[in-house]
Amino acid sequence: MGWRGILGFEYGIVQAPLGADISGPELVAAVANAGGLGFLRAPDWESPDYLKELIRKTRSLTKKPFGVYWGECSEELVLKAHQSGVKIVPQVGSLEEAKKAIHAGVDAIIVQGHEAGGHVIGQDALISLLPKVVDLVGDRDIPLIAAGGIVDARGYVAALALGAQGICLGTRFLATEESHAHPAYKRKVVEYDATEYTDVFGRARWPDAPHRVLHTPFFNDCKYIPADQNEAGQPVIGCAIIHDREIEIHRLAGVVPNATTTGDIESMVMYAGQSVGLIKEILPAGEVVKRLVEGAQLLIKNKFSDIL
Ligand SMILES: Cc1cc2nc3c(=O)[nH]c(=O)nc-3n(C[C@H](O)[C@H](O)[C@H](O)COP(=O)(O)O)c2cc1C
Repeated sequence: MGWRGILGFEYGIVQAPLGADISGPELVAAVANAGGLGFLRAPDWESPDYLKELIRKTRSLTKKPFGVYWGECSEELVLKAHQSGVKIVPQVGSLEEAKKAIHAGVDAIIVQGHEAGGHVIGQDALISLLPKVVDLVGDRDIPLIAAGGIVDARGYVAALALGAQGICLGTRFLATEESHAHPAYKRKVVEYDATEYTDVFGRARWPDAPHRVLHTPFFNDCKYIPADQNEAGQPVIGCAIIHDREIEIHRLAGVVPNATTTGDIESMVMYAGQSVGLIKEILPAGEVVKRLVEGAQLLIKNKFSDIL
C-alpha cells in the first residue's frame, strides 16, 4: 500500500459519486488509474442491464477496483451487478448518522461537512464534525474519509490532521476533463467563487433536502421563491439524456446540466462546494490525484517537519 492508502487503494483519495450521471466510467477509471477510488453514480431507477453495461465499460477502462453509488436504485441490485469484493462506505453528516453507520458494521465512513457541494443535510463544518467522529470511532478499524470543501493539498493535510485517513472530493472532480458535466458548468466552477446553502431546487422530488449551489445570476433571481413553489408546474427549460433515459428539465429542478444537456443551461442548478473559488483550471482527473499526493507530501516535509 502506498502513501496514506485506504481500503486497499494506493492513496486515500476518493472521487465522490456525482449525480445524476456526472461521475461516469471515464472519470471513475481515470481516478482509479491514478491510484484513487472513484465512485460510479448508478441511475436512480432500476435498470439492471444498463447498470451492468456501465460497470463493464468502467472495467474496460481500468483494471483497478472502483466504487458504485446506488442512489435511489436498490442496494441488492448493485451488489448483484458488482458481484464480488464489495465494501460498504456510507456518507454521514452528523454524529447521530455516524453512530448508526458504526452500529451497522460498515467498512469505512465518509464524513461530510456543511461546506460540501450537492445535497448537504448536516449543519456542522468539517473542522468540528470530523474530530467528533474520530473520537466516536475510537480504536475500531473503520477508516474515516473527510468530505466537504477539500480541493487541494492544503485541505488534504488539514483533514489528515483532524484524524481522517482519506479525503473525498466532489466539486474538484466535477471540473475535470473526464467528468460528464456540461462544459458551461465546468467553466463556472472555475470562474465563480461563491456558493449558497438553499432548498429552492428539486423541492417536489426531494422535499427537505437542502443543497449547496453556485451563486449564479439565475440562483440570485430565484432564491426567495415562496416555500410552496417547486419545479412541478414550472416550464420546461431544456432536455438531457441521463443514463439510459431522455428527460425534460423543468425550471427549479434539481438536475445539473450534463454533457448532453440542451436548452437554458444558465438557469439550471449547479451544485458546488464552498471551496469552489480555489479551483482555477479544468484538469485531467489523474493530474488532480497527482497534485494532491505530491502537494501533501511536500507540505508535510517542508512546513511541518521542523515542528518535531
Ligand atoms: C455535482 C454534484 C453531485 C453530487 N451528487 C451526489 C450524489 O448523487 N450522491 C451523494 O451521496 N453525494 C453527491 N454529492 C456530494 C458528494 O458526495 C460530496 O459529499 C461533496 O461533493 C463533497 O464536497 P465538495 O464538493 O466540496 O468536494 C454531489 C456533489 C456535487 C458537487
